[in-house]
Amino acid sequence: MKVLHVAAEVFPIVKTGGLADVVAALPLALAEQGADVRLLLPGLPPVLEAVQGARTVIDIGSCFGALRVRLLLARMPQTQLPVYVVDAPYLYRRGGSPYQNYRGEEWPDNLQRFALLGWVAAHLAADDADPAWAPHIVHAHDWHAAMACAYMAEHGASAARSVFTVHNLAFQGLFAMHDWAMLGLASRLLSPTGLEFHGQLSFIKAGLQFADSITTVSPTYAREIATHEFGCGLDGVIRGRAGDVSGILNGIDTRVWDPATDSAIATPYDAERPAGKAACRRALQAELQLQPDNGALVLAIVSRLSAQKGLDLVLAALPGLLECGVQLVVQGTGDPVLEAAFRMAMQAHPGRVHTHIGYDEARAHRLVAGADAIAVPSRFEPCGLTQMYGLRYGTLPIVRRVGGLADTVVDATPAALADGSATGFVFDAATPLALTRAVQRAVALRRNNAQWASMMASAMAQPLSWQAPAMRYGALYDELIESPPPVL
Ligand code: ADP
Ligand code: GLC
Repeated sequence: MKVLHVAAEVFPIVKTGGLADVVAALPLALAEQGADVRLLLPGLPPVLEAVQGARTVIDIGSCFGALRVRLLLARMPQTQLPVYVVDAPYLYRRGGSPYQNYRGEEWPDNLQRFALLGWVAAHLAADDADPAWAPHIVHAHDWHAAMACAYMAEHGASAARSVFTVHNLAFQGLFAMHDWAMLGLASRLLSPTGLEFHGQLSFIKAGLQFADSITTVSPTYAREIATHEFGCGLDGVIRGRAGDVSGILNGIDTRVWDPATDSAIATPYDAERPAGKAACRRALQAELQLQPDNGALVLAIVSRLSAQKGLDLVLAALPGLLECGVQLVVQGTGDPVLEAAFRMAMQAHPGRVHTHIGYDEARAHRLVAGADAIAVPSRFEPCGLTQMYGLRYGTLPIVRRVGGLADTVVDATPAALADGSATGFVFDAATPLALTRAVQRAVALRRNNAQWASMMASAMAQPLSWQAPAMRYGALYDELIESPPPVL
């Protein structure tokens, strides 16, 4: 089976969040299970620099406002996975993030930039871009790739089927309606049952309306997005496609995140040799000039600093957390208000709070390995990867009961502690008090060495690899290929 994964980012080349980790690991896991998988990426400068052996598959000429567009075929560094790259210098060769400039403003031509990505995917699916390869399945990730589904629906003739994965419904790719003509789509798609969304053009709706199958990254989030509370205005659309929506829990790359072989951390360890974890903890306290206090609960946060992540709750709860013996270690970037607040917290509590504003993979590994617990108090969380990294490193997650957090962490209730299934601490209300109580439970439990060690062992034993999720995606692809295409 030939599968094309279409996305705007991929670890370790371009990454703004967990999407990049998924796009790196899932295609590889599918390939290991026998699928013929390729990626399609925009030709951002780091992509063009990193891929190997690029050759031109087709010279597309000028489109979407770009004078020269070429489709390249290359291989990913390290994994050697085949990757198509859309080389459109005018649209993609610039600094900043894939979505925004250095000032944090959306690129003004994002409509053209991401329409082109989807349009090329649809041409590959229609078998008129690469004479040597055409996918049976086009798997588009988030709004950046969603237009693939609209262009495929428009082309109609191809046998290829489409899967759209929602990694985060809050990011929708909204554009001014007057730019519609640039998309080159039939006007019948410009309606509330097409791409129109409250007077704007919505790229995510291209995925939600036209994909043959919609997945999201955890079963709980699949249910949540059908509700007004989590639906971001699209819950009606999701409910309308109820039969085609499913939740497949993400895995993690257990090679990249493996405390037994992690070269970024002070001392390797695993469930059989847990002593290394204490060495990582001491090394982290020393590195960050935290008090060398063995009784403290070293609590890590590695996160985008955004409203989604509920980090205002941590700030509001901070006095109470410090009082009950927490040492807080924060690493993140994002909202300048949150950045400033965490910086001030470090100044106010030297030796107890450490803040690093910045993005640093190796440092993230040291934090996850050295901390006792990791906090993810999100207001919503489609899946969340950091709590799974925590589980794998025996760093117990303290999470809010939403989305993938609810699906991956088993709360330390008396029953779960008794049967050995507890892996972390889960709270419900999005309030500083509820967070504080969960942290207090963790602090109290850590005093019981045997119980804490047993929770660490359960956490580290969780099956988190991509093997099972990739099989689920594989089964979904099989189902789609075998079922007759819908009549539009
Ligand atoms: P989201 O995609 O919503 O940001 P996830 O938990 O799915 O949340 O994924 C976040 C990813 O980004 C993880 O791999 C996490 O380790 C990483 N990450 C976030 N902030 C930083 C940072 N400041 N430095 C290093 N890695 C980070
Ligand atoms: C999004 C979500 C996050 C998820 C990630 C990968 O960025 O916010 O919860 O883990 O995508 O699917």
